Amino acid sequence: MKNIAIFASGTGSNATKIVEHLEGHPSIKVALIVSNKSTAPVLQMAATNNIATLLLKRQEFYDTENLLKDFAAYKIDFIALAGFLWLIPPYLVQAFPNKIVNIHPALLPKYGGKGMYGMNVHKAVHANKEKESGITIHFVNEHYDEGNSIFQASCPIDLQDDPSTIQKKVLVLEHQYFPTIIESLLLI
Ligand code: GRF
Repeated sequence: MKNIAIFASGTGSNATKIVEHLEGHPSIKVALIVSNKSTAPVLQMAATNNIATLLLKRQEFYDTENLLKDFAAYKIDFIALAGFLWLIPPYLVQAFPNKIVNIHPALLPKYGGKGMYGMNVHKAVHANKEKESGITIHFVNEHYDEGNSIFQASCPIDLQDDPSTIQKKVLVLEHQYFPTIIESLLLI
């Protein structure tokens, strides 16, 4: 069995799709949901699905490697970032080489980097009158949004679209592709 930890701090709609997709999977299990926000709805979703959770404290996350002990206890093989905004510290990147993936709601290398998250991304795409946007699923390194790209999918942007309709179109792609890409990476 390959065990996944999902890091999420927002609504967790991607985390939910991943959990649903992998439910009952013969060789992959979502073993842990990690969050840095005690009020994140994703923690409720984890409870409903009997998935263990871990709440990160910033200082401990960056100043110690305690998390690696927890991950060893849960036998974590793979990490999926689904709406997690803190930079992943070097010790974690090094412990999971090419085993941490992130989903970014734009076509990287455009609209990536620090501060480019959530509606900031879609507002920038809209302001620049882009004709398309999309998703990038990529490996995670020590820099925001710079790891090697694994997969991209795009959607057209119409003249009448605003940042919020762009966000909705992009989220459809996220839900459609992130769970299956994670699965395929784990079946290699
Ligand atoms: C998604 O847009 C994802 O691309 C980004 O954070 C958002 C998380 O949304 N990294 P949700 O919490 O999964 O609904």
